[in-house]
Amino acid sequence: MTETPGRGSAAPYISARTGQFRYFDRQLGRPGWPAKRVLDFGGNVGNLLLDPECTIRHGHYWCLDVIPEAVEEGRRRYPDATFLHYDRYNFEYNPGGTRRLPVPDLGRFDVILAQSVFSHTSKAEMRELVAQLRTFLTDDGVLAFTFIDPYFKPPPGWARAEEWPDLDNLRWRLASARRWQEPGMDVEALEAEATSARITWATLVNNEDFVLDSGGDWCREGEERTHYMVFCTEEHMRSVYPDADVLPPVQPERFSCAVLRRQP
Ligand SMILES: C[S@@+](CC[C@H](N)C(=O)[O-])C[C@H]1O[C@@H](n2cnc3c(N)ncnc32)[C@H](O)[C@@H]1O
Repeated sequence: MTETPGRGSAAPYISARTGQFRYFDRQLGRPGWPAKRVLDFGGNVGNLLLDPECTIRHGHYWCLDVIPEAVEEGRRRYPDATFLHYDRYNFEYNPGGTRRLPVPDLGRFDVILAQSVFSHTSKAEMRELVAQLRTFLTDDGVLAFTFIDPYFKPPPGWARAEEWPDLDNLRWRLASARRWQEPGMDVEALEAEATSARITWATLVNNEDFVLDSGGDWCREGEERTHYMVFCTEEHMRSVYPDADVLPPVQPERFSCAVLRRQP
């Protein structure tokens, strides 16, 4: 449940986060998972399947991720599921990948999930990928993805002890980055920068620059394997996707959720 220390080092990122199944199960109102064909977009090593309550059939589970080592590890852990490498460029996770590589056509899915994926892309890339993913939904299929509202502050007793329960999401992520990635980080200066404007969409780059929404297409290119953390308010996500259900976090998570259907 905690962040994995050392992201940004040369080692490929293998997710240690859990809780994904429980989160999406609740956000989607407990769909009948065993009958669903599921795509875990950016699913890394497939921790969605780790939950003992997970009823997704491994034979119905597909994971696409840009990190080849995570895909290999997912295949090893879940031989009956399908893990595929998607060699698309990502500033943080796959700097050697191909820019704008389209999402491969793997057929239609009843459910497409993306946990903490569009908190690591530009807004333009989110729009592009979400538009493509929607075309792979069945007629009554759903796409659900998480995002971090900077101003969500968990009520008392909500958040995990190791996740700075008293801080809002913006300050939690800054404190977490300083602890795990950048001990010398000037959190106070970044906080001041971030609070000087009302955030709609903002990107924390390399734990040193806050880029407030400038159309959202900004992305620093040419730098390898550094950090990229996106914040977006629920209100702003509603304006980006007026047809989405934008849902607040469910305990103990701090992520909001956007739920979209196939475009008519
Ligand atoms: C913070 S991790 C979350 C991993 C996983 N969803 C979880 O909850 O354990 C973000 C993941 O998104 C993947 N990713 C980033 N951009 C992607 C893209 N364009 N297509 C597929 N996966 C992507 C990364 O490789 C990484 O595994």
